[in-house]
Amino acid sequence: MPLAATTHSLFPLLFLVLLFSTSPYSADARSHHAAKSPSDLVRSSCVNATYPTICLRTLSSYPGPAMTPRDLAQAAVKVSLSRASRVSKYLSLVSSSEQGSKRQRAALTDCVEQIADSVDELSKTLSELKHLRLGKFRWQMSNAETWVSAAMTNEDTCLDGFQDVDGKLKSDVRRKITNVARVTSNALYMINRLDESRGRPRSIP
Ligand SMILES: *[C@@H]1O[C@H](CO)[C@@H](O)[C@H](O)[C@H]1NC(C)=O
Repeated sequence: MPLAATTHSLFPLLFLVLLFSTSPYSADARSHHAAKSPSDLVRSSCVNATYPTICLRTLSSYPGPAMTPRDLAQAAVKVSLSRASRVSKYLSLVSSSEQGSKRQRAALTDCVEQIADSVDELSKTLSELKHLRLGKFRWQMSNAETWVSAAMTNEDTCLDGFQDVDGKLKSDVRRKITNVARVTSNALYMINRLDESRGRPRSIP
């Protein structure tokens, strides 16, 4: 590798090439900053996540190699998207069953819409993370952060709507939505880490 020929002005480019590359060679080349193995990367990345235990549980078992911050961000968004889709189906099912008080059904109808929006936002995010391009990275990360934040807001709004509703349905819905909100929050954290891995200061706490 012609590293000796690289000048200072080429370093940012080299770094980007490494960041966007998924070949095993580049993973080795980066291993002294990142982690020795995928599971070490998951562990060190989950340490400061909003929900570290959930982070470890959902990402350690994730199929496929998580070699880079980009892989981890993608895996975290996939987890969040798959849970949100599952809850979205559940909500559609219970909301079509015409059970419960008027108030309960109104809260459910709102949630169906909010979680469907969440699913949309998470799937746009996943698609953005799958098509990262050198010249568009900054813009794409900003989109991803905006969409995942919007997904979290929708999940919170659904939870708030169920505040004043009684019954077993309430606890079921709240538990499922809370789980989705937690993995979504971890996904936002992984996206922020990916963004920072390129040297930009953190803009979302
Ligand atoms: C986790 O947070 C602590 C305290 O802010 C910091 O010192 C440490 O470097 C962070 N670790 C990672 C892997 O981000």
